[in-house]
Amino acid sequence: MSAAEKLQVQTDTAEALFSVRDLTRLYGPEKGCQGVSFDLYPGEVLGIVGESGSGKSTLLSLLSGRCPPDRGSVSYRDSNGQWVDLYSASEAQRRTLLRTEWGFVEQNPRDGLRMGVSAGANIGERLMAQGVRNYGELRAAGLDWLKQVEIDPARIDDLPRTFSGGMQQRLQIARNLVSSPRLVFMDEPTGGLDVSVQARLLDLLRGLVRELDLAVVIVTHDLAVARLLADRLMVMRRSHVVEAGLTDQILDDPQHPYSQLLVSSVLQP
Ligand SMILES: Nc1ncnc2c1ncn2[C@@H]1O[C@H](COP(=O)(O)OP(=O)(O)O)[C@@H](O)[C@H]1O
Ligand SMILES: [Mg+2]
Repeated sequence: MSAAEKLQVQTDTAEALFSVRDLTRLYGPEKGCQGVSFDLYPGEVLGIVGESGSGKSTLLSLLSGRCPPDRGSVSYRDSNGQWVDLYSASEAQRRTLLRTEWGFVEQNPRDGLRMGVSAGANIGERLMAQGVRNYGELRAAGLDWLKQVEIDPARIDDLPRTFSGGMQQRLQIARNLVSSPRLVFMDEPTGGLDVSVQARLLDLLRGLVRELDLAVVIVTHDLAVARLLADRLMVMRRSHVVEAGLTDQILDDPQHPYSQLLVSSVLQP
């Protein structure tokens, strides 16, 4: 099924998972993000692209409940089918969501891992937050997830700081996915890595996203990453979304002059 058909089917048959209206937070004129609206469907990957300073990380913070907007709303349909208005919910509710049904993969794995505890403890933490107390079960999940992210399970008792950057990033992904989130936010997840390591991580991410039917909002300035992972794209410039649509359409036939510039500048050697 093509991305277009997939989108069509989802729009027809499935209720949105995540709904955003007029989301705005400005730190200065055209600094931040403004007037952003979209719906995200289960299993759909939305890429946010645009040059540095265009507002991508600001938007992701607003979407993921980390920073309140000046105006606008973010709603999420939880696993009980109830719509939750993120910024009317309590701080405790938002935190619970982030630890259970959502995940957040930071660009820098040091921000998303607990560097002072073992790889296994990093993976087990969210399960413990969900009430799993059985040591054998936590250990088994740790071993299983290390394998899934292609880290030698024999490293389960090692500290993350003994891992390479690529391994740390894979551990951060395992730590997020172990609790079976339905929606995962990622801010430049391959940004700090060598090109060869990036390619492998991207393959792994793509496999996991499909296998687990994850909905993802991924920020990247790298259009190759967007092409590989995203069904749909939003192009940001100076706090505005200037173009949104299917990834192939935007990358192969951009309509807005800024999208055209963005796409063509990548093609130049
Ligand atoms: N907490 C903040 N305080 C003041 N200005 C900020 C803050 N966060 C972001 N900005 C400004 O908002 C603009 C967009 O930043 P950001 O969302 O980080 O862009 P991007 O992720 O696309 O590089 C930039 O001009 C940045 O300096
Ligand atoms: Mg950013």
